[in-house]
Amino acid sequence: MCGIVGYLGARDCTEVLMDGLEKLEYRGYDSAGIAVFENNEIKTVKTRGKLSQMKNKLETEGKPVGHCGIGHTRWATHGEPSDVNSHPHSNGRVTIVHNGIIENYAELKEFLTEQGYTFLSQTDSEAVACLLDYYYSERNPLHAITETLKELRGSYALGIIFKDFPERVYAARRGSPLIVGVGDGESFIASDIPAFLKYTKDYVLLDDDEIVRLDKDGAKFFDLHGLPVKKETQTAEWDVEQAQKCGFPHYMLKEIHEQPEVVQKTLDSLTSEGVPDFSEIGLTDEMLRGVGRVFITACGTAMYAGIVGKYAIEKVARVPVAVEIASEFRYMNPILNAEDLVIVVSQSGETADTKAALELAKSRGAKTLAVVNVKYSAIARLADMCVNTLAGPEIAVASTKAYSVQIVSLYLLAFRFAYARGAISESEMKRLTSLLEQTPQAISRVIERSDECQFAASQLINTETLFFIGRGFDYALSLEGSLKLKEISYIHSEAYAAGELKHGTISLIEQNTPVITIATQRHILEKTISNMEEVKARGAYIIAICRKGTMFAEGSVDLKLELDFGDLDDMLVPLPTVCALQLIAYYSSVLRGNDPDKPRNLAKSVTTE
Ligand code: F6R
Repeated sequence: MCGIVGYLGARDCTEVLMDGLEKLEYRGYDSAGIAVFENNEIKTVKTRGKLSQMKNKLETEGKPVGHCGIGHTRWATHGEPSDVNSHPHSNGRVTIVHNGIIENYAELKEFLTEQGYTFLSQTDSEAVACLLDYYYSERNPLHAITETLKELRGSYALGIIFKDFPERVYAARRGSPLIVGVGDGESFIASDIPAFLKYTKDYVLLDDDEIVRLDKDGAKFFDLHGLPVKKETQTAEWDVEQAQKCGFPHYMLKEIHEQPEVVQKTLDSLTSEGVPDFSEIGLTDEMLRGVGRVFITACGTAMYAGIVGKYAIEKVARVPVAVEIASEFRYMNPILNAEDLVIVVSQSGETADTKAALELAKSRGAKTLAVVNVKYSAIARLADMCVNTLAGPEIAVASTKAYSVQIVSLYLLAFRFAYARGAISESEMKRLTSLLEQTPQAISRVIERSDECQFAASQLINTETLFFIGRGFDYALSLEGSLKLKEISYIHSEAYAAGELKHGTISLIEQNTPVITIATQRHILEKTISNMEEVKARGAYIIAICRKGTMFAEGSVDLKLELDFGDLDDMLVPLPTVCALQLIAYYSSVLRGNDPDKPRNLAKSVTTE
């Protein structure tokens, strides 16, 4: 989704803004722009397209020279990506950048048109610039902002500059992320910390309906009535390196390689004395004993992590778990009560549908637990309890390491759940935890097999459509493997429970249709193999991903990727196996000439419904 940056300080503002926007590229965008005070005049440069186009435009039109300004990368919602729809938007006295959606913009536009305002763009955001101007009087920007915010419906993060105040940046938020960076004699606003991490690690989280003013005295915070608000400064644990490629050609590959380390970190943070321990976040055995049903709700990859979680919790704790797509859950009037535990899973912690599902669960009295990677995010702050996964910044749009730490957290929860409810003994909980401790090595062993994954990917590059099949945990993985592949390689793919293909979809199998068969679950291996043979008999090209030593009948498999899981319980093999699927997706994307970090049409953090 859109990225916002703003700067006030002694540095070259254009450089800081462009650098910040580059760090926010991962969020997804289709146009960019900046507005900088140069000799007390606002100079705006904006364009459709990528930051490279923006750089060209800055070269030809001249870089604004100044020390105060705002910048934006836009992911189009209202109005096509075009120069005129790009942000910043201005009406002369007020210039803004906006992330989010103004739901009542049509009404506002009508009212403002009656007041004599003319609109240049098709965006909802321009209405905000005009409304700010409408309320701006007596050189009082704060009044204009508070009055404007009271009239906006929807979600926003706003960066605002007023022509009369060349040494001030204002910002406000509701529902969309905005963070204030506090440097030495300089201040920043940004949609995410990496945008200013190079200059300062100190930040303040802006809450909903709060406003910040950056001026030469630093950052001052206000509420919707314009009254001062005291805020706490925090220090980011991430360092600049974590948000850089560190020699890898893409963030995605770097993030795949980080998995052994981040899985270990997450394990360390959620265990004590060899067993899962959630007491620090207030999740006690007593509470777990009182849970009647579990719902896991999330979107995309996070939801697929939830399916692994469901299988694990039901297997060991014998508690019913329903996994629901957050955008459905929030509107399906779910039946919830105080005995229910609703788990929301999110890397960004800002996904609009997941957040709405969480709000709904809370309003219905269920206990809520968030599994979130960004600890300062809205979802992390909203949930009753929050497991902070330690993947570090995930910059590539396609989620990889965040998925792995999400499932690690859900496994640990499953073991603690099972113990708390008497489904397993303490020694069994210890044994399972110690097996989970072996997954970082198993993941490393899979990553060492990158060449074989690349070869598998090379077999897919001319394919138009393919299938993933598996049973049980392998089915859960098929869903994730298929999503990963299609989102970055643009090869159409479907994931099927292996036993389900013959109920219709098998008619799509033709000569050489690739079918990636995940066959790691030993108790149902023969069943999976039968399903694989059914499609092989109809001409499929079979890539089998299996445990080292798995035997198949001669001629039934075209390419075998045998993975060394060591002594891992079958329940835990999704962790190393997913890395092979991520690598196949990554190489398929690269071999087809795509940029795996920035797949077309996608945004990293989806803050619209
Ligand atoms: C796919 C992917 C998305 C996200 C989904 C939820 O690779 O990254 O499917 O998993 O948009 O995002 P979060 O986890 O931030 O809530």
